[in-house]
Amino acid sequence: MKPLRIALTKGRLERNTVKMFEQIGFDCTTVHEKGRKLILPIGDNEFEVVLAKAADVITYVEHGVCDLGVVGKDTIIESGGSFYEVLDLGFGICKFALAGSKGIDFYRGYASKTIATKYPNVAHSFFEGKGMDVNIIKIEGSVELAPLLGLSDAIIDIVETGATLKENGLEVIEKVCDISARLIVNTASMKLRKQEIDTLICKMEQAKEAKQI
Ligand code: PRP
Repeated sequence: MKPLRIALTKGRLERNTVKMFEQIGFDCTTVHEKGRKLILPIGDNEFEVVLAKAADVITYVEHGVCDLGVVGKDTIIESGGSFYEVLDLGFGICKFALAGSKGIDFYRGYASKTIATKYPNVAHSFFEGKGMDVNIIKIEGSVELAPLLGLSDAIIDIVETGATLKENGLEVIEKVCDISARLIVNTASMKLRKQEIDTLICKMEQAKEAKQI
């Protein structure tokens, strides 16, 4: 049987997932010694880890070239897609928030507001839910710059510790929703390799529970 392929979001989620795999008892030496390699066998060669950018994790799982993926709920909400979201992994915890300059009275007045964000779909549905018409400007990184430079009235972005907002004179106006890492599964793999996938989900769930005690 070929190994189950798991796409991991490179960086923090990758490191947390590897910790979880090691807690389960999978040998992840290959990942620690990866160099520039992007596909790495782990465990007893029953699994293969693929390192990818968040949005690409969804693409690979959706197309079935990876059976499973670990990706943030932020990317899932923004990108959507057709796959099963089977487990909240309990790490990568942060939130989406509307933020602006300290003391801003954001909802005051009727003039249309401009929002900068890396997540235009999230921003669109948040304001649609409020019946507010806003201009959304897509920014690729360090969104906090937009209100500081006068490009936008506020931002919708990920807040983890709040340090970036604080150090730039910004504050949360309103929480949009909570975020954490999720395990996703290709719909065909879920049927074709159900037993192996169920066993893995079960082990990951147990590792998550054990961590919380
Ligand atoms: C994220 C996010 C904030 C920051 C929040 O950016 O977009 O800028 O982290 O974290 P904090 O609340 O702990 O300060 P990231 O580090 O992913 O970099 P980017 O802005 O270049 O995407």
